[in-house]
Amino acid sequence: MSLGMLYLNGEAILVYRGFRWAEKYRTKMVHLSLQAGAFLIALFGLKAAWDSHVLNKNPTTGQLDPIPNFYSLHSWIGISTLSLFFFQFLFGFVVFFCPGAPLAVRKKAMPLHRSIGMIIFVLSLGSALLGISERAAWKMTCWTKDHEMCSEMLITNFFGIILVCYACGVIILVSYSPWQRLPLPSEEMHVSQNDDDYGSDTAPFINNRRHDDD
Ligand code: HEM
Repeated sequence: MSLGMLYLNGEAILVYRGFRWAEKYRTKMVHLSLQAGAFLIALFGLKAAWDSHVLNKNPTTGQLDPIPNFYSLHSWIGISTLSLFFFQFLFGFVVFFCPGAPLAVRKKAMPLHRSIGMIIFVLSLGSALLGISERAAWKMTCWTKDHEMCSEMLITNFFGIILVCYACGVIILVSYSPWQRLPLPSEEMHVSQNDDDYGSDTAPFINNRRHDDD
């Protein structure tokens, strides 16, 4: 889950920042592919979590002893985030890629796409942290029974801190406006000719930025 919804999602978001000089079509393809990969990995994670509950065995009797699904806050936030991710992907695909909406619609849709995208990213971090805490509470009893921090607990906490640092890095990079992608000279031409081409997706962003920077 952390690999898909947090790491790959973060990398997909940063593609437009890291490869600002690359053609829009290529960056779009990378953004799209990484998001698709993130979703697939998250689905595998969901299946693994589901099976670990449904196929749970009682350690003493060895009998099947299923754990109920969707009781915890982690599961509620997690499944909501995954559903939001699915709709955001569908929306992004149809509006910006295939078949692609007219320029005016894409202009209106882009700020919403950005905001919902960042909300999904933050919710993914929240779900991951809740999942880490849930596992620590259920499986690692050293801190409650023996009143000491065992090495497993230390590793778990460090993992959570790494996730927080990664997410903060992505959020800082995305909110730093001088690093936003500007249209390449060839795309500027499309925009000024009001051509409904892929390059002109950046038009709302240009407007935003001018307002921001003024
Ligand atoms: C759930 C999946 C997705 C999430 C979470 C997501 C998230 C984001 C975020 C946060 C941004 C802002 C990046 C920045 O400001 O540099 C962005 C930009 C963008 N996304 Fe997505 N996205 C998703 C799927 C898609 C899909 C399927 C497409 C279709 C190709 C797409 C096309 C775009 C475009 C064209 C931009 C604007 C890039 C620019 O010129 O600055 N996204 N996305």
